[in-house]
Amino acid sequence: MPLRHLLQHNRVWATQTVRERPGFFTSLSEQQKPRYMWIGCSDSRVPANQITGLEPGEVFVHRNIANVVVHSDLNALSTIQYAVDMLEVEHIIVCGHYGCGGVQAALDNARIGLADNWIRHIQDVRDRHAEGLQAAHPSQRLNMLCELNVIEQVVNVCHSTVMKDAWARGRVVTVHGWIYGVHDGLLQDLLVSVSNPQRLKELHHSAISQVFNPLRHAPQAYAAL
Ligand code: CO
Repeated sequence: MPLRHLLQHNRVWATQTVRERPGFFTSLSEQQKPRYMWIGCSDSRVPANQITGLEPGEVFVHRNIANVVVHSDLNALSTIQYAVDMLEVEHIIVCGHYGCGGVQAALDNARIGLADNWIRHIQDVRDRHAEGLQAAHPSQRLNMLCELNVIEQVVNVCHSTVMKDAWARGRVVTVHGWIYGVHDGLLQDLLVSVSNPQRLKELHHSAISQVFNPLRHAPQAYAAL
């Protein structure tokens, strides 16, 4: 039984939770009413609930390699639609992380297999911002592209029919872009919180200029990586 310790841990956790908070599972089994949706990387070091202090039932999660939202990805789009229309979440957080392996592969043109086709979407982001990335110090390019990727995926969420329709109906939903440091456990807000499609262009522009702000990316900022 190589996985016995996981099942044993589960029993201990469930028993302890019921002891400390009677009715916890009963109320969760009746409905979920999360206020947040999380679109993150599959990386095992970036667990949505743990790093935000959220309990079961509080965040609706979609994860894939390098937190990419592709316009034709029925998996991501269905998840966003369910979150927005059925669960009525108020916030969608696109969260990337520094040192992302998927972003690194995109930057290096590395061939890793089937995922090359997925990572191509991040290479599109890289190519769109080629000038700024080329001008940056090579040691800063990976983390810059990690940030650019989050910002562009926020735009993709905002351009989805789900979000356009929700906003047209007057729904109050904000799409945010965050990035997580696996080296220090800290989340940073990339200041691209869009609650109104009319402001998307302006917020996108200012967030991109922040990525290329030389002061923000002083080499010591990433010394710990
Ligand atoms: Co990653």
